Amino acid sequence: MVKNICCIGAGYVGGPTMAVIALKNPQIKVNVVDINAERIAAWNTDDLPVYEPGLLDVVKQARGRNLFFDTDIEKGIREADMIFISVNTPTKTYGLGKGKAADLRYVELCARQIAEVATSDKIVVEKSTLPVRTAQAIKTILSETGGKANFQVLSNPEFLAEGTAINDLLEPDRVLIGGDQTPEGLTAIEELTQVYASWVPRERIIQTRLWSSELSKLIANAFLAQRISSINSISALCEVTGADVDEVAYAIGTDSRIGPKFLKASVGFGGSCFQKDILNLVYLCEYFGLPEVARYWEQVIALNDYQKRRFAQNIIHTLFNTVSGKKIAMLGWAFKKDTNDTRESAAIYVADHLLNDMANICVYDPKVPAKSMYADLDYLGTRSPDENRKSLTVVNDPYEACKNAHAIAIITEWDEFKAYDWQRIYDNMMKPAFIFDGRNILDHKRLMEIGFKVKGIGKSYGGS
Ligand code: UDX
Ligand code: UDX
Repeated sequence: MVKNICCIGAGYVGGPTMAVIALKNPQIKVNVVDINAERIAAWNTDDLPVYEPGLLDVVKQARGRNLFFDTDIEKGIREADMIFISVNTPTKTYGLGKGKAADLRYVELCARQIAEVATSDKIVVEKSTLPVRTAQAIKTILSETGGKANFQVLSNPEFLAEGTAINDLLEPDRVLIGGDQTPEGLTAIEELTQVYASWVPRERIIQTRLWSSELSKLIANAFLAQRISSINSISALCEVTGADVDEVAYAIGTDSRIGPKFLKASVGFGGSCFQKDILNLVYLCEYFGLPEVARYWEQVIALNDYQKRRFAQNIIHTLFNTVSGKKIAMLGWAFKKDTNDTRESAAIYVADHLLNDMANICVYDPKVPAKSMYADLDYLGTRSPDENRKSLTVVNDPYEACKNAHAIAIITEWDEFKAYDWQRIYDNMMKPAFIFDGRNILDHKRLMEIGFKVKGIGKSYGGS
């Protein structure tokens, strides 16, 4: 029986996952550790570093009881009989596999540290999304450098989506656990199964071999992203043919073989996972000599880039071919609603395109601080940090963001946007007053009655 769990990495995945494991297993002590002291300090306040509906409530129930956030990684490792590795695995920005392969240096560092510090046997669980066969690398490091202790490596990918993390964790469609099919491996799988079985029905806990589990996570994300790119490709076709993409999505989604989820056309998908995991898959296929398969999946990313570019270009074309010196209000910067996460958000790329065309952008997002927006733009390196701050301003009031704007671009589907006083916004805008609804969340008919010129994704009204 597992008595002590340590999780290395207190991010969007590690934090919420461990909070729920601790909540549902009061008999297990859960230590979440991280090299980032500021993050750990925030986890110990009511102002958590991750915004997720319901998270604070769960943390408060378990924190100080059997859930602890600490910077002492070595102590966490030493005390634990099960260690989750939940550090980030960004796309490599250098060297071999640059732009595609996952950068595993943090995972490797974790494995080396575990090997160095451990004095008793440990089950090491990969929580980070990793390329297939990473577990093998971790195993090698542990066994070559790990002294007397024995290690079992499991793959337990996380399927939670941000914004609904707590719900997804409390009621997962499935939990996937992969491990070696040896007696020791099967025992380790069973130990982890028991942790989840405290609240997840047994039949939803899928046990597989190690590589199947690692691959399944990449493929689940690739399939989800593929659906979005598919419907987004059709949105372009709808705009020129006069069909309505939401009607098409509904019509095809009622076929139970297709299903209704993940068919919402948008300004493009973002988030830390989809692009990274597909690039990873592409790299894997190339590595194993399957270029046709690689090209197939690459297209999902290409279409997503096209969609973001198309949205920005549509704004420029519609505003009489120039946005130079014009105020454009961007509502939303997060990659989806109910999160403060901005990684790979379409907002970054839309803003970058518009700034290249000399727009003055004013952004409002209910959860994302200005600091993150500037960090996102500066990271692109398109222009100097000074220029980014001069051309893009951030405000705390949506009405101020829209005041005197030539156009509004809806980037994130925050619910509050639907409830605004759109008449008041219209009255204070430049005319013609344009709205580009990158999420099709507003009531377009009503907006047109007010006088707005409305452009939606996959909608043919509004002229071209
Ligand atoms: C997760 C998964 O782990 C990643 O593989 C997946 O694709 C995206 O989601 P996430 O929790 O979102 O990552 O990442 P992040 O919020 O950046 O958290 C990672 C944490 O690990 C950070 O707080 C970072 O400080 C910490 N870390 C990183 C360490 O403690 N040690 C390290 O060596 C590196
Ligand atoms: C995703 C997977 O859903 C989750 O299982 C995995 O663990 C991590 O990656 P996440 O990136 O947090 O989760 O959010 P998700 O809800 O999948 O949305 C990803 C992006 O796709 C967002 O930008 C979202 O707005 C966009 N999206 C989603 C669409 O544009 N249309 C849709 O129909 C659904």
